[in-house]
Amino acid sequence: MKKTLLRNGTLVGVETPRWGVSEKSETIVDILISTGGIIEKIGKNIQDHKDTEVVDVSGKLLFPLLIDCHVHFREPGMEEKATMQTEAAAALAGGVGLVCDMPNTVPPCVTVAALADKVRRAEKIAGCTIKFFFGVTEAIHLVTLKDLWTGTSLELKRLKNHCSGVKLYLDHSTGDQKVDGGIVEEIFRTCAELKIPLVAHCEDPEINAKAKTEVETQNFASLHDISLHSTMRPPESEAASIEYAISMARKTGAALHIAHLSTKQGIELVRAAKKEKLNVTCEVAPHHLFLTTDDYKTLGAFGKMNPPLRSAEHRDALWAGIEDGTVDCIATDHAPHTIAEKESGEPLKAPSGVPGVETMLPLLLTVAAGKWPNENSPPALLRELRCAGKTKNPNAKISYSDILRLCFTNPNRIFSLGASPLAVKNPAKIVIVDPKQEWILGGKNLHSKCGWTPYEGWRVTGKCIRTIG
Ligand code: DOR
Ligand code: ZN
Repeated sequence: MKKTLLRNGTLVGVETPRWGVSEKSETIVDILISTGGIIEKIGKNIQDHKDTEVVDVSGKLLFPLLIDCHVHFREPGMEEKATMQTEAAAALAGGVGLVCDMPNTVPPCVTVAALADKVRRAEKIAGCTIKFFFGVTEAIHLVTLKDLWTGTSLELKRLKNHCSGVKLYLDHSTGDQKVDGGIVEEIFRTCAELKIPLVAHCEDPEINAKAKTEVETQNFASLHDISLHSTMRPPESEAASIEYAISMARKTGAALHIAHLSTKQGIELVRAAKKEKLNVTCEVAPHHLFLTTDDYKTLGAFGKMNPPLRSAEHRDALWAGIEDGTVDCIATDHAPHTIAEKESGEPLKAPSGVPGVETMLPLLLTVAAGKWPNENSPPALLRELRCAGKTKNPNAKISYSDILRLCFTNPNRIFSLGASPLAVKNPAKIVIVDPKQEWILGGKNLHSKCGWTPYEGWRVTGKCIRTIG
């Protein structure tokens, strides 16, 4: 086997190009990778030998394999939607090499046996590391969680190593894993005591139930209107639930991570919690950054997810949260459902969730290149972006190093995932990106088993052209 030498790549670090304008030439490096897949050298003009495969990566960006800390790979139990194998292929095609899978599988990941089964399956998947969140919906699961986290047997220690933390659903979503409200504080206390990362899906069950009843009584004639999904799970519901979760973090000292935060109020609450120095972090999902309730017109049930699409005001607040560092991670909530499930029957009854693990990187690269990936929507935003000389648009600011921080460094730290940054002696797990390549997203050229994307036909700039490791 030969060594590999990546020649003249742009190493994405803290001082990489913003808005596609190269400012720091010293980020251009060669990377030498040993036959065993370890980074041997990073530097200028590294000597090559006849036993070295030289790959010219000039003009290309080098990231570590990215992390998506929120996916639903559906295995076991829902293999008609997706499998670990198919979705890992989608992840790698999108430059993602480590994912954290959620517990709403069948059976749910709430027992040691269920976790062990998922780990056994994941170990067969090459190239993409799959870690798992443990679900807690009843008191008995909390007992199991404590055993898992404190167990001294080799087997429990091994399984714990594959577990990225606890997932808490504060309201029902796909898989009906809503937690018993009476044990929430105990879960927070346990996570604080045992230092377990705690991820919360924040929606308030009472506010959602009330909004649903209101919609059903007022809009009886138009219950086929998919946009009512957003009315039935309103922004106030997420805000109240985030406020509650933060109050629990304050009370118990638990490290709280808010999943797929989608509202302006949510961003403000996390911003305030950080000011207060609470251990609170959050992620936003690409669909809330790139789609709004306007997209229901073209997407129908293919735009249905929980939390739902919001108005442009909320989308803009999420971008502002990225810009000022309130948002810690971008994670996809990759949740494939079959086309048949999305199309059969009333749109409002279709399952919630959209795929996204393969499209996250190209969408973000497009914004980093100073463009908006969908020329049709929202045109006002695109116009502004162009008129503002690419720098003054408040809605779409992100750099290549922001992508590194949001999709690698922060999730790696928050969930102690053990992924290696690009440095000498580390495993060479690398994404090579062509930041200029333009291409069209389409369900047919993506790898997820579901075969569709909510970004069908969108023109993106930037592509993962190869992964190593
Ligand atoms: O839209 C969603 N889909 N939200 C969730 O909370 C679950 C997910 C799924 O598993 O389909
Ligand atoms: Zn999810």
